[in-house]
Amino acid sequence: MSELLKKVNVSIEEIPGLGSFIVVPKGLEQVITDTTSISGVDPRGENTLYRGYTIEDLGMNADFYEAAYLISYGTLPTEEEYKEYRKKVDYWRTRVPEKVYDALKLLPQTHPMYYGAYGALLLGQIYAPEWRLDKDYLYEHQIRLIAQLPVIFAAAYNLAYHGTFLRPEGELSHAHDLLRMITMRDHSELEVRAFESSLILYMDHGFNASTFAVRVVGSTLSDMYSAVAAGIAALKGPLHGGANEEAMKMFLEVKKKASEKGVPMEEYIVEYIKEKLARKERVMGFGHRVYKLKDPRTDVAAEFVRKLKDGETWYKVIKAAEKVMWEAKRIPANIDLYTAILYYQLHIPVPMYTPVFAMGRVVGWTSHYIEQSLDNKLIRPTEKYVGPVGLKYQPMTARR
Ligand code: CMC
Repeated sequence: MSELLKKVNVSIEEIPGLGSFIVVPKGLEQVITDTTSISGVDPRGENTLYRGYTIEDLGMNADFYEAAYLISYGTLPTEEEYKEYRKKVDYWRTRVPEKVYDALKLLPQTHPMYYGAYGALLLGQIYAPEWRLDKDYLYEHQIRLIAQLPVIFAAAYNLAYHGTFLRPEGELSHAHDLLRMITMRDHSELEVRAFESSLILYMDHGFNASTFAVRVVGSTLSDMYSAVAAGIAALKGPLHGGANEEAMKMFLEVKKKASEKGVPMEEYIVEYIKEKLARKERVMGFGHRVYKLKDPRTDVAAEFVRKLKDGETWYKVIKAAEKVMWEAKRIPANIDLYTAILYYQLHIPVPMYTPVFAMGRVVGWTSHYIEQSLDNKLIRPTEKYVGPVGLKYQPMTARR
């Protein structure tokens, strides 16, 4: 047993006078902190599941409502359940309180992830100033968040950057309506399906950083809206959801420089990545805490990338990037490398890439909030203090 603990970098430490503590690796790497029946990430990349179904199966075959229902309630919906659920999501999407739109009109041009966190907290103040923890109430608020958070992102972004926005249309599917509101243009059936599939791929993914943040906040018995705001804050970072935006910035730079040099992008990206690695910089859209061989979500996203505008060209660029990263570092691509190109093909503005991730992940966040709340234990690790001891307060005049 102690050999195993040593191998995974876990130890038991006795601190005189304080007792025994379990010391786990930095970043909680390889640490299981709780059970969940919502999703499981398979390190081999072969069997990553949402409630028992592989993520590839759902990404290819389910629609937004089916996948969201499955993640929320644990089973795929029957026809009747589907109709009821779809009606509710579409109803709430078109019922964002007018006060929220009014508030969004005041926001400055900034990163749209701020708009989502702000909007989630506004919804909480309006819908749930007194939070309750009964099951029906939780599921009711989950639907409101799934339906309305994306509208807030799209409206706030377009208001701040274009001075206008599109209101939701309840008769369109959720995915179609979101894509229309974000881009303010029409899309083909294939484009809508590609977008919908990406939302499904992003819906949940075990105890990733933002979901863990949501569960930590939920474990304090704070409300679901506050917990989702914390999830958005965590997702914003470039090591997590922010990576799809950063990956696109890389592709755009490669596109520009390759054109200036008159060489194909798939040729130039190799040189570009090698230089980045030589400078010890990270290449966004590569690497994952759990997947060390393959991120299965990339296969589904690749299918759509290839079918959309300039798909085969972009696919070649992605493959060239994957090859050089694998040869140099043995690091595989993650979903964000593929969705970066996919969203570019769908005319989604680059700063909206991470908000789109949140539009899918809000399903997982709220499901984890409910799972945590219904079997709660405050998440509160302990620390090992290594700072100075025994100092005594001195008045300012005596300090140097
Ligand atoms: N580019 C270059 N080097 C990398 C990368 C990368 N993308 N990812 C990991 N490494 C290197 C890292 O420099 C380190 O090398 P060394 O041991 O020589 O110092 C080694 O690999 C281990 O890295 P780590 O950060 O300790 O490993 P981790 O398990 O904590 O990393 C990660 C996970 C996602 C933070 C990291 O792979 C990364 O920074 N990737 C880029 C950001 C990114 O694409 N994030 C999206 C993740 S998937 C979608 C999501 O869930 O958000």
